[in-house]
Amino acid sequence: MLKDDILKALLDAGDYCSGQALCERFHVTRTAVWKAVAKLRDEGYTIEARQNRGYLLRNTGYLLSQASLDEAFGDQRFLKRWVFLQQTDSTNLEVKRAAGEGDAGPTLFVAEEQTAGRGRRGRSWSSPPGSGIWMSLLLRPKLRPERASMLTLVTALAVTDGIREATGLEAAIKWPNDVVVRGKKVAGILTEMSTDLDRIEFVVIGIGINVNTGSFPEEIREVATSLAIEQGKETARTPIIAAVWKQFAHYEKLFEENGSFAALKERYEALLANRGREVRVLDPDGEYCGVAEGITESGELLVRREDQSLTAVRSGEVSVRGIYGYI
Ligand code: BTN
Repeated sequence: MLKDDILKALLDAGDYCSGQALCERFHVTRTAVWKAVAKLRDEGYTIEARQNRGYLLRNTGYLLSQASLDEAFGDQRFLKRWVFLQQTDSTNLEVKRAAGEGDAGPTLFVAEEQTAGRGRRGRSWSSPPGSGIWMSLLLRPKLRPERASMLTLVTALAVTDGIREATGLEAAIKWPNDVVVRGKKVAGILTEMSTDLDRIEFVVIGIGINVNTGSFPEEIREVATSLAIEQGKETARTPIIAAVWKQFAHYEKLFEENGSFAALKERYEALLANRGREVRVLDPDGEYCGVAEGITESGELLVRREDQSLTAVRSGEVSVRGIYGYI
């Protein structure tokens, strides 16, 4: 795509690039260059335009690279390997390919852009370059398969506390694993698993965080946001990535040592945006409403129904919606 070629040209130049030179190099009109630059700005890149000098890409310190990850992960012990990719289909697929080749993990893949990013329930996940964090972890936990869904809750905790630590924003969790800021989603988690009889072969933990996205399409503007929108300024992604995996290493250790979510329950509930709120549970056996009170030690959502009975709602089987909004 033209905008990617222009991004690369600006990156390589590290200085002003004249509009004319870009037109000639890519055989396009000035309007096409201008439109591509506008798209890049929408994706979060800061590009200055000056008469007679051309375009300059600012804040390249905000860009991701293998070197920036090497620096961020230099003194941690949890990750065994981390790989930066300028572009891939999906970092979850990268993990599956690495697992197939025998990678022992924990290995992290971080991509600047995903061409086939995937969300939950078979949806696609928009993953343009420059604006977000698209990353997946390969983990081979010694867990029974039925407990693997708890790793998604562990991840939700890590992403929420990682965002809090790196940005100071009051991120919270929409059960089971969406991360929200001021009631709108900033991050999603897609956990997948491969099992062999009753043993987990590997788990893929995919995380998408909207960091410098400037705006969202009309149809999701009410429910989606980015850290930049909430902070009113752009932010470097590497410190957020580092904070998330630092938190993950901490919570995953607690989870493994206890063999349950019990030690993490209190923190999870403190961050639970649904707590005390009315929710609608979309159960295939029938919808019902109630008030979310907290979670159980295995991560189910406790919903007090109108007849005062308490139901433990399992993730995966149902969807939980807010009555008055996304939460
Ligand atoms: C959701 O639907 O809320 C989950 C979104 C998960 C997106 C991330 S981005 C990195 C990883 N690779 C993918 O293809 N999906 C996940």
